[in-house]
Amino acid sequence: MIIKNKNIFHLQGKNTSYIIAVNECGDVMHYYYGKKLRDKNYDWVKQEWSVWNSAGPDKWTLDITPQEYPSYGYTDLKMPAYDILNKNGNNVSRLTYKSYEIVEGDVDKISGMPYLLKGKSSVQTLYITVEDKNAGFSVVLGYTVFDDYDIIARTAKIKNISDTKIKLERAYSCALELPKNDYKALYLSGGWANERNLKETEITGGIKLDISAARGGSSHHINPFVMVAKKDATEFFGEVYGATLVYSGNHSTTVESDQFGNLRLLQGINPFGFSWELGMGEEFETPQSILSYSDCGYGGISRELHDLFRNNLSRSKWSKQERPVLINNWEATYFDFNEDKLMEIAKCAAKQGVELFVLDDGWFGKRYDEDKSMGDWFVNEKKIPSGIDGLAKKINALGLKFGLWFEPEAVNPDSELYRNHPDWIIRVSGMEPTTSRCEYLLDFTKDEVCDYIINAVSKILSSANIEYVKWDMNRPMTEMPYQGFNHKFYLGFYRVMSQICNAFPNVLFEGCSGGGGRFDAGILAYMPQIWTSDNSDAVKRLEIQYSTSFAYPISAISAHVTAVPNHQNGRITSLKTRGDVAKCGVFGYELDITKMSDDELMEVREQIKDYKKLRPLMLNGDFYRLKNPFNTNYCAWEMVAKDKSEVFLMCAKRMSEHNSKEEHIKLMGLSENADYIDMYTKKVYGGDELMYNGVVPEFGKFDFSTFTVHLVKI
Ligand code: DGJ
Repeated sequence: MIIKNKNIFHLQGKNTSYIIAVNECGDVMHYYYGKKLRDKNYDWVKQEWSVWNSAGPDKWTLDITPQEYPSYGYTDLKMPAYDILNKNGNNVSRLTYKSYEIVEGDVDKISGMPYLLKGKSSVQTLYITVEDKNAGFSVVLGYTVFDDYDIIARTAKIKNISDTKIKLERAYSCALELPKNDYKALYLSGGWANERNLKETEITGGIKLDISAARGGSSHHINPFVMVAKKDATEFFGEVYGATLVYSGNHSTTVESDQFGNLRLLQGINPFGFSWELGMGEEFETPQSILSYSDCGYGGISRELHDLFRNNLSRSKWSKQERPVLINNWEATYFDFNEDKLMEIAKCAAKQGVELFVLDDGWFGKRYDEDKSMGDWFVNEKKIPSGIDGLAKKINALGLKFGLWFEPEAVNPDSELYRNHPDWIIRVSGMEPTTSRCEYLLDFTKDEVCDYIINAVSKILSSANIEYVKWDMNRPMTEMPYQGFNHKFYLGFYRVMSQICNAFPNVLFEGCSGGGGRFDAGILAYMPQIWTSDNSDAVKRLEIQYSTSFAYPISAISAHVTAVPNHQNGRITSLKTRGDVAKCGVFGYELDITKMSDDELMEVREQIKDYKKLRPLMLNGDFYRLKNPFNTNYCAWEMVAKDKSEVFLMCAKRMSEHNSKEEHIKLMGLSENADYIDMYTKKVYGGDELMYNGVVPEFGKFDFSTFTVHLVKI
């Protein structure tokens, strides 16, 4: 709900208030974001902030004034939210209040980019227009407020109102100013096969956090998600703010602590490598940045984002549907397969209860290795004589759905596509374009390239009963020919992705980028699940899945049981451990199932049966992280049904310890007065007992063992 009272805008979510005040000079100031406040007359806001410098209309010193969209060059000496070479040829400006508008329902489209949808929530958007006539531009600040959430979704739309060109040199989506306190920041950083490790850093004087990615996509290195928390906040308690960007390109979040200890967070497109010219009357819109607040620790932010992303982000009908248990042939065969081998895998998998067979890389052109045929989206009939349609029919005849892998943005130099269109790749003149994983990237800033890919992929998808697509992208972006190119590429990319996804609404799309190199809310808007990491070792996955859950729901986290020794790190873990970890995600297998022993196959059947029982819970429940694998020998997490009627607890222990007692794992979010039966052991526990005394996990005696409990209310 948005309440306007004189010069105050009070934005109320479910449990939060966000208050904006316009001062007598027209500066749009941030007053408060936190636990819900009653609406009253906030006239005193003015007094408190009337400050120290001289008299007259410009008595406001912006350096100590918390602002909604801080400017560059006029009394504010911190990092600005925008930086624009204006009509006068300098970068100095002061944006002041012009008007406002409150719009009900879904936000107006954000030009070419994904954004949150209204869903079942009642939603209002406040648009505040600020302008600087002298500098020649205005900015419309958008604040979308959901009655059902503690979320404020922010955007900024910059318009050239001058009679000449202006140039944006930075344009963040939002600024969030927080008053002096002791803060820390948490974020997700890593690399290939090591994505999204949870990192924590203190925020003290200066810019203490600049987590920016300029690798072309949202990246393995830095995820576009940050939490700023009071120093004493934990997983379970305390005040925490979240900022998540709905964007898949180069991004940046900075957190600065000023000379008074106040904090400024900026989030948006990475200014490095970015600039954007606006002709007369032209506009530029930023991606959406999602601000969230919780006084229930990090877990509170995560559960809020999980609900939001499941209900208000995804355009896919699959986001609310149970996902089929899949088997993927990649780690089973890599490029070395033929139709008979695929059918053997599929037949064996079908017998164990698998529901979807996915044919990964290597099905097209002359693709026997990674150096050939990328971009040639027609079947290799030597490998698959029945063609995609014939193979899909055979797979369907086994009772399995059929799915296919693509990498639409890439092309090998050794491909028909590149030979026919050498000018379609990203390159700069006078420099040999670099290959990475033997690939170039197609230039998605060109409409003809986008149209070609839309048609090529659509043609295959229409040619057979393909019910799942894995959309991969395996290299960083280099040789970008001009500033702002990366953003323009992503506008093309979103067009391609949305057109293909819209044209095939029944297909389940899974995002992927060399594992989890593009795990972001922009992708989740179109694809409800993402391949989390090429590292499928169950022990490393404890960390990766644990930290991925900070921002993204379990229903988005794709997790497979793979062979041991693990192909990425050689670790050997039991089939039980691999299954228990993968069950806390979108579950599947990626190994040569035909090589498994009868005993192993029996265990696979049991795992699948068990997962199918857990599946609705894992799709819809509230997720609690109980033990942090980064700083304990344990990892524990729990999924609780919204009505508290069902619970799945998974605990893992990295190193076995002999002659020691296990820690009690205390559950959360249950009904105190209810009794629960463990479906595995038939033991009955009280809800109070589970939460206050906990369960004592019974681990196996070897390293890397897991213990699970599936509780149902009786
Ligand atoms: C990278 C992905 O992460 C893998 O799962 C697999 O699809 C390969 N690409 C195929 O080239």
